[in-house]
Amino acid sequence: MDEKKVIFSGIQPSGELTLGSYFGAIKNWVELSKEYSCYYCIVDMHAITSRQNPAELRRHTLEQLAQYIACGLDPKDNTIFIQSHVSAHAELAWVMNCYAMYGELSRMTQFKDKSAKNEDNINAGLFTYPVLMAADILLYQTDLVPVGEDQKQHVELTRDIAQRFNGVYGEVFRVPQPFIPKVGARIMSLTSPENKMSKSDKDPGGCIYLMQKPEEIMRSFKRAVTDSETVVKYDPENKRGVSNLMTIYASATGKSYSEIEKEFEGKGYGEFKPAVGEAVVERLRPIREEAERLIKDKAYLESVYREGAERAARTAYKTLRKVYKKVGFVEK
Ligand code: TRP
Repeated sequence: MDEKKVIFSGIQPSGELTLGSYFGAIKNWVELSKEYSCYYCIVDMHAITSRQNPAELRRHTLEQLAQYIACGLDPKDNTIFIQSHVSAHAELAWVMNCYAMYGELSRMTQFKDKSAKNEDNINAGLFTYPVLMAADILLYQTDLVPVGEDQKQHVELTRDIAQRFNGVYGEVFRVPQPFIPKVGARIMSLTSPENKMSKSDKDPGGCIYLMQKPEEIMRSFKRAVTDSETVVKYDPENKRGVSNLMTIYASATGKSYSEIEKEFEGKGYGEFKPAVGEAVVERLRPIREEAERLIKDKAYLESVYREGAERAARTAYKTLRKVYKKVGFVEK
């Protein structure tokens, strides 16, 4: 019997992985894999809720897998897989759709944001996106879901759906909890630090990508928005840009905010900004090199995602079978 608590998380392969997803998610996943039984998914089915170019989606999915591994997620210790490879996700999502309410889905802030931004493609998948996410989580009897602040509402909804279902049929699902990391939970855009760093950022300088060239990374950091003072001080209320750079520097080096303040005492942003860039470049260098090597090793990547899907499927179908039985489907 596996006594370890279960963790499930995922990232959409809708673009390149960003520094935000590394410091905010994957870096913590690596830590968690020592203590928990972890499922890390590449959620390609979620990605198609906005229009994707098929060749790019395929490329991003495989690159994301290579990058997960290059970041230190060992496929032996973690179940790493592609969502569409385990059809139980789609199957449970359908059942869960019948236990999620129109009203509660309409209240999801991400749905409201995304439909405001994509008025020409407010598809039903975008609306039921959180239900598929609930299915992802519930299939594995997950205890903890590491997510950013922006996904907390979806995990709350997952809890509500699970409790509603359990209320009718008995204890079918474990009720999961969101798990929000303390440091680096939110890396903000370098050019508009009031917004989360995001691959959909229109300003290319605002977002750093894991695979980006060192020169480009340095350029973006040198141009990062700060403020009219000159002190390196952690004050996220009044000094958003500088505080964000400090969070990034802290995540890259492991230093505390007070150590960073001391290090740059009496020095201006002209010294601080390239130092942050340098730290990020050095932190990402081995990851980029390893990911570049892995992406060429198609046979290895294939063996990882095949085995991952097989392992995931074993747990997922156990839950799905139970659900089908509970709702009254005839066993096949
Ligand atoms: N919705 C998440 C995001 O955009 C991605 C995701 C899909 C996810 N399924 C999940 C995260 C299950 C955690 C658990 O960030």
